[in-house]
Amino acid sequence: MLATRTIHNLALIGFMGTGKSSVGRLVADMLRFTFLDTDHVIEARAGKSIREIFDQNGEPAFRELERRVVEELTRRKTTVISTGGGLPADPANLASLKTHALVVCLWASPESIFQRVRGQSHRPLLNEADPLARIRRLLEERAPCYRQADVLVNTELRSLREVAGQVIHQFRLARNR
Ligand code: S3P
Repeated sequence: MLATRTIHNLALIGFMGTGKSSVGRLVADMLRFTFLDTDHVIEARAGKSIREIFDQNGEPAFRELERRVVEELTRRKTTVISTGGGLPADPANLASLKTHALVVCLWASPESIFQRVRGQSHRPLLNEADPLARIRRLLEERAPCYRQADVLVNTELRSLREVAGQVIHQFRLARNR
């Protein structure tokens, strides 16, 4: 399948709190690529935070903004793209990313994710009485989408640098195929 694709970019998908933005920034630095975070693009365009978009316009409006950004990404080159956790739940988004990017999924257990995101309040989907239960449920629901990635990288017990190293290794392998 990869033979028919031109891999210009690297896209990181995965659940909230798996380190897509931190890993993405480091990988972009190491590859000398541009870094782009889909959530940041959406916030800049809307002139408000993700949380405000969810509160004022609702999740469907946010997903629509997300789809538009995904469409525009097809024109990018040498870019590391960090995506919002729910973006690949729409199969069309994932299919679009695969036309121009190697899609790498960062994986972590619900418990590790909970440890990483607890105390943060900018993620509307986790503002609940029992965020761990919500993480478990959402992760189970989305796991089939995340498994569609070209590569799955487990972030458990690995430092940021180790994860970035793995991602770059896989990217170079895929480009040299
Ligand atoms: C979401 C994840 C968030 C952000 C929004 C919705 C999700 O991004 O896009 O809050 O549906 O999982 P991160 O994965 O960067 O936290």
